[in-house]
Amino acid sequence: MQVNGKNHHTIWVHPDNKHIIQVIDQRKLPFEFQIVDLKTSVDAFEAIKNMTVRGAPLIGVTGAYGIYLSLINGENENWRANLLKTADYLKSARPTAVNLAILIDEMMDKLAECPTLEMTCNMALEEANRMTLREINWSEAIGDFGCELIEAISKEKNGQPVNILTHCNAGWLACIDWGTATAPIYKAFLKGIQIHVWVDETRPRNQGARLTAWELSQEGVPHTVIPDNAGGHLMQHGMVDLCIVGSDRTTSTGDVANKIGTYLKALAAFDNKIPFYVALPSSSIDFGMKDGILEIPIEQREGEEVSWMEGKLENGKIGKIRIVNEMSPVANYGFDVTPAKYVTALITERGICKANENDIMNLFPEK
Ligand code: MRU
Repeated sequence: MQVNGKNHHTIWVHPDNKHIIQVIDQRKLPFEFQIVDLKTSVDAFEAIKNMTVRGAPLIGVTGAYGIYLSLINGENENWRANLLKTADYLKSARPTAVNLAILIDEMMDKLAECPTLEMTCNMALEEANRMTLREINWSEAIGDFGCELIEAISKEKNGQPVNILTHCNAGWLACIDWGTATAPIYKAFLKGIQIHVWVDETRPRNQGARLTAWELSQEGVPHTVIPDNAGGHLMQHGMVDLCIVGSDRTTSTGDVANKIGTYLKALAAFDNKIPFYVALPSSSIDFGMKDGILEIPIEQREGEEVSWMEGKLENGKIGKIRIVNEMSPVANYGFDVTPAKYVTALITERGICKANENDIMNLFPEK
């Protein structure tokens, strides 16, 4: 999608040096646009952990390139044993988004067939590039399927703007291009359908205010940033036609882990009979899990993210301010689980299905 009028992805191989992977430093947005070089698997691990890159599909692809970087920098001896250790190390960078483990495991299965280190390096790069393209295609397909839902509501409203509420950043910044929740939004906008997006600010890291609002501005999509707690009020007053969110891990039964606060939006949508859609590629589905609340690991992050806020100060510099007194403890759960019963449907790259095991398995019978 667009950054200052030019098409961009979130991750790519350096055009002049295939030993360097480049990413956008998402910690700096929307105030600065900076590109960071990843040269080693430690760089890839750190970028995922400190959220230079974030969002489930992007974390997965960064992990896959991390495997490639470890191979090109590795020693000849014991390279296969070291690779197994690196895979576990990279997978431990963040716990909730299953894409990281799924893509690394897929990569490791593929590399197991390669007899030499040189062939393994080449294969790793090829695979990571293939996974990148696949995520882009999946996001675009999600966009096409989801656009039909928005178009149907637009017709019911005789072309009046369709109001869509989204939480966190499930945009192209969280993926490689298009996004998951935002893909239908971009497709509808490009088709000329009148839309307006309510952007939850998404405390504590404010990915909605900082990233989703920036993305939508760059594309010219009408939107309004709201405090996280405003959604229920807007829904009660007929100001939301549908919700679309992303997912970090969806169970085979349709329970959805996504950024903390998603569950409360789903409850409000349910109470107000507003459709609540989750847009996700199959790389976010954990086919081995059935009970999201019991089984999905929920990341707990540093309390500093809650007790301090970062932004542009009045003097134009980026700075932090403390908003909680120094004695009070804080808790920082990164994600919550929305039970399948509150999800109207899942929008996947293969089509739209109900959030239940039967319908999910019908779409993905090979799993
Ligand atoms: O902590 P983050 O910023 O990685 O959380 C991101 C989200 O929760 C997204 O909604 C999710 O990854 C879906 S991304 C297409």
